[in-house]
Amino acid sequence: MTAVATEGVPVRAAARRQSILEIDRVTKFYTSRDAGSAEPKRITALSSITASVGRGEFIALLGPSGCGKTTLLRIAAGLTGWDEGSIAIAGARVNGPRKDACMVFQHFGLLPWRTVLSNVVFPLELDGVPAQSRREQAMDLLKLVGLEKYTEHFPHELSGGMQQRVGIARALMRKPLLLFMDEPFGALDAQTRERLQEDFLKIWSTIGTTVLFVTHSIDEALVMSDRIFVFTPSPGRIKAIVESPLAGERIGGDPRAHPAYGPSRHELRGMLSGSEP
Ligand SMILES: Nc1ncnc2c1ncn2[C@@H]1O[C@H](COP(=O)(O)OP(=O)(O)O)[C@@H](O)[C@H]1O
Ligand SMILES: [Mg+2]
Repeated sequence: MTAVATEGVPVRAAARRQSILEIDRVTKFYTSRDAGSAEPKRITALSSITASVGRGEFIALLGPSGCGKTTLLRIAAGLTGWDEGSIAIAGARVNGPRKDACMVFQHFGLLPWRTVLSNVVFPLELDGVPAQSRREQAMDLLKLVGLEKYTEHFPHELSGGMQQRVGIARALMRKPLLLFMDEPFGALDAQTRERLQEDFLKIWSTIGTTVLFVTHSIDEALVMSDRIFVFTPSPGRIKAIVESPLAGERIGGDPRAHPAYGPSRHELRGMLSGSEP
């Protein structure tokens, strides 16, 4: 496993590919007020984050709760501002949401009054794509996620795993350059989660979108990603960038049976608990 100190970025894997996302010394503060205190308190959610993501890469953002993973994803998706540094997608400074940078949420974010099909077509409806064409594209994606028989169901009639398949199909409708996934499988039971991990990796390998995937599961980061950005808690920093030794085994194989799986888990656990430099 190759860990690269963040001071040393850009990183080998990113250098091999055309860069799609450049994060340069990004810092983000929030202000909040404790109960009973008159003085607002400044929280450093992210401190000087620098990283480069190559086109088509699958990146895991790994760290404990509160280390700024969601904040970084929201900044990159143009949903939240930042205070210092710069961030660019395909060479253009991020200054708001982009149609080609889409989000998959932990709690699915489906519209409960719309059927599966009409949830999936929704982004193209907003874009004014003709009904026939958006329907055809939605049907292709619903086949890809295995839900072609559920087009007329409503979200509450589906399991959590199926609802997240709808969320994934919807996020892919605009053929995104970048897909941001914020703990997308965090609300699912262990078995459903593993099944979705496998299925999503197959989907990713066919569409080739760049993915930033937030997780606090070491296992999930290792089996899903090319590289893992390991965060430290408050203030959130990238402590190390690690290349997953399982990246070549992800699809069709059994990455957990790989001899590097146990040692890599151990090493990452050490990094997260602070017992590694
Ligand atoms: N809107 C907000 N206002 C004030 N503080 C916030 C806000 N959003 C997040 N924070 C704080 O910023 C830090 C990072 O939060 P977050 O990005 O949600 O972390 P993570 O996704 O890793 O759990 C936490 O200390 C959190 O309490
Ligand atoms: Mg979060």
